[in-house]
Formats: sequence, C-alpha cells, structure tokens
Amino acid sequence: MSKNLINRDSKYIAEIEKIRFFPVAPIGGDGCYIIEENGRRLLDFAGSWGAAGLGYSHPAITEAIKKASKSMASASLLSYASEPAIALAEELISIVPGNIPRKVWFGHSGSDANDMVVRLLEAATGRRRFISFYGAYHGGVSGSMSVSGHSSQTHSPKREGVVYLTYPNPYRSELEDNSPENILKKLDQLFNTTCPPKEVAAVFIEPIQSDGGVIVPPSGFMKSLEKKCREHGILIVVDEVKVGLGRSGLMHAFEHDGLTPDIITFGKALGGGLPLSAVVGPSEIMDFAPAFSIMTASGNPVSVSAGRTVLKTIENENLISNANIVGKNLQDGFRELANQHELIGDVRGRGLAIGVELVKNRHKEKKAAKLETAKIVYRAYELGLIIFYVGMESNVLELTPPLIMNENESKLGLEILNQAFTDVSNDLVPDSVIEKYKGW
Ligand SMILES: Cc1ncc(COP(=O)(O)O)c(C=O)c1O
Repeated sequence: MSKNLINRDSKYIAEIEKIRFFPVAPIGGDGCYIIEENGRRLLDFAGSWGAAGLGYSHPAITEAIKKASKSMASASLLSYASEPAIALAEELISIVPGNIPRKVWFGHSGSDANDMVVRLLEAATGRRRFISFYGAYHGGVSGSMSVSGHSSQTHSPKREGVVYLTYPNPYRSELEDNSPENILKKLDQLFNTTCPPKEVAAVFIEPIQSDGGVIVPPSGFMKSLEKKCREHGILIVVDEVKVGLGRSGLMHAFEHDGLTPDIITFGKALGGGLPLSAVVGPSEIMDFAPAFSIMTASGNPVSVSAGRTVLKTIENENLISNANIVGKNLQDGFRELANQHELIGDVRGRGLAIGVELVKNRHKEKKAAKLETAKIVYRAYELGLIIFYVGMESNVLELTPPLIMNENESKLGLEILNQAFTDVSNDLVPDSVIEKYKGW
C-alpha cells in the first residue's frame, strides 16, 4: 500500500466519487493484475467493476489507442462523419440478433446510455412511465438513476411514475414471496389499477441483476415478462452494461433467456478501459429528433477504436469460451469452499459474472453476513487479491474478472479467498480495520 497516494486521495478526491473497500493504490497493471507502488502484484477478480474486460494494458488495445491518437480523425462525432465510430456502429449492429433496421448512439458510460434511453423513450413514445426492479442499478446520472432501485441511491428522489417489481431471487424464494408467478401477478394488478399499461414506455431490466446481488433470474421469467409487455406495446430495454459482451458465456446475457430486446445498452468493457458506451435500438426510435442527446466528445476516434478492438479480441482470443471454462472452475471452486466455510450460502452466476452470497445460519434464515463480507474482502486484499462486494445488504462477493483470466489465476484467487475466510473466522481482522472502508 502507498501511504502517499492514499493520503493524497483522501485529501483531493471527493468522497461522493468513492466506493472503497481497502487501501489499494495502483500505479500500473498488466493482464489480470494491478501493481502497487512497492511492486506488489494483485490478482484482480473485480476487473475495475467490469470495465477492464480485457484486463489491463492488453497489447491490442494499447496499439489501437496509439494508432487512433496519432492522427485524430476529429475529437467528436456530433458534426463529423467519423470512420471508426461508423465502423463500430456497424459491428455492434451486426452482433445484435434480429433483422430490423437499427442505429447506434455513443456515450461515455453506462449511466449516460441508460439516461439517454429514458429521455428518448419518453419523448418518442409519448408514454411517461417505466417499469424497473428493486435492486436495479442503471446508472448515476438523473435519468438512469431515476429508473434504478438500488439501496445506494436513496439520496436522490425517484422519477414520478416508475413502478418497481421485485427481481426474482431463487436463493430467497422460500423466505420472501418473490416467485416469478407472484411478480407477474403483481404487474397485472398494477396494470389494472394504478399503472395503466398504455402509460408505460418500457421496462428496464438487467439480465443478471448485478449490483443488486448478482441474481440470476429463474428460467422462463424474462420470457413471460417480455410476453406481457409486448401485449401492451411496452418496449424491452436490456441493460448489458456489466454482464454483456461475452462475460456471461454468450455474447449477450439476454440470450440465455431467449429475449428479443428493443433497445440494448452497452458500456464498461466496451471501451477496453476507456470511457465508452453505446445504445443499439430501432432506427425509427433512434432517429426521433436531431440533436436530442448529444455530448461533444462521444464517439471520439480513440474510444471507439478501443471499442472495435475489444469486439475483435473477444472473437480472436475465444474469450466467450474462456468465460465459460474459467467461470465454471470458479463456481465449482466456491462450491468446494462452501464445504469448509459455513458463511458461503449461495454460489451463482453465468460465465465470468459470479456472485457468492455470505450468510449466517445458511440452513434457516440466511441472515446477511455484512461485517464478515467486508472483512473477507479486506483480508483478501492483504493476501494479494482484489474482490469487491455488492448486494442490497452488502453481503455478496462479486466476481467480474477480465475475460482473459486463465485457470491458474482463477485457482490462485480461490486459494487466497480460502485463506481469507479462514483468517476472518479466526478473528484476524479486527472491526477497527474496516471501519474506514464502508463500501457502499
Ligand atoms: C447494469 C449496470 N448498468 C449501468 C451501470 C452504470 O455504468 P457506469 O457506472 O459505467 O456509468 C452500471 C454500473 O455499475 C451497471 O452495473
């Protein structure tokens, strides 16, 4: 740990921009590792919250950025028909299933992508309401926050007219009445009473509810929801920002559920570590009005060239298949660890989007092991592994490692976590150490 960087960070970086779990201060990175000032290499199971989809300093990304920045074909797409942005738009459209005419909008982050969709759909459909889910995280700017339902965002008022459903969670289905049937019944009730479906523009959904606790919906739920929405002309917006682009073991996570979204939002891994997001949607909606959602530097040649290289590298290096193989090893490994560590209540996920829920009394009330989760994450850092936690009760270890992670690295991470669980159960991490790191 670098005391100097940590001190400067405390002094100059706004708290409102932080979710800190331990005092990591990287000065470099390569592959699946980040490097601290003293040269210590930390294996990264978090991959910068999924933004480092190809890891750090992937040679193909470094090369693409170098080339694009050497002779910049403008710094904006607003009033320039810029080749790299056009090419990336063509490529994104080509990987989205279906044959309707589609267009692409570029932004800087998942937050602005979902924000743009909220505003666009309200204007283009003339419908003011949206359906979302408790636990959903679609972003941190007004529009995307207003259709989110995450416990970290109670500071900002929600948008009028958004209705929230419970995201079905198979691990807690006996304890909480959250079966798909009941949730869809609730939607019918809303449609028949306080939320007439003709007022609803769209449903926003994460194919795996990530920040809400890496919850994989039970099979059939998404399809039934889609059917119900289609009956009323309600559009389907799928947020692939965190789990898309190969991470789930398919190119798009919505493909596991056989969904046909109208609008798809991409971000995080798309930029290969640079700020880049994209919305892919039907041309007739995306052409609603000129200059409706503009940001000067969006679609700039450097970010979109990195984006093109991300798509190419996923294919060239068979990263979707790797996500399946290494993801399965990790899930199997955690299930083995569950034999030794009572705290592990559930292991779930798809590909390299994995959640490990930590609970007390796992055979009965499954009480969130919040303090223990924070301590395990802290201890893992001390032992050489970066891993974060998510969930409405801050008790789910989240794995979104680079898709390039190999089996040896995944094994090493599991060994470190095994030790971290043991050390925490032996009280090696006092409460006072983690008090500074409240997470989120
Ligand atoms: C599913 C999902 N959508 C959108 C966002 C917002 O993305 P960003 O923070 O890059 O703006 C996130 C961030 O965690 C996310 O997980």
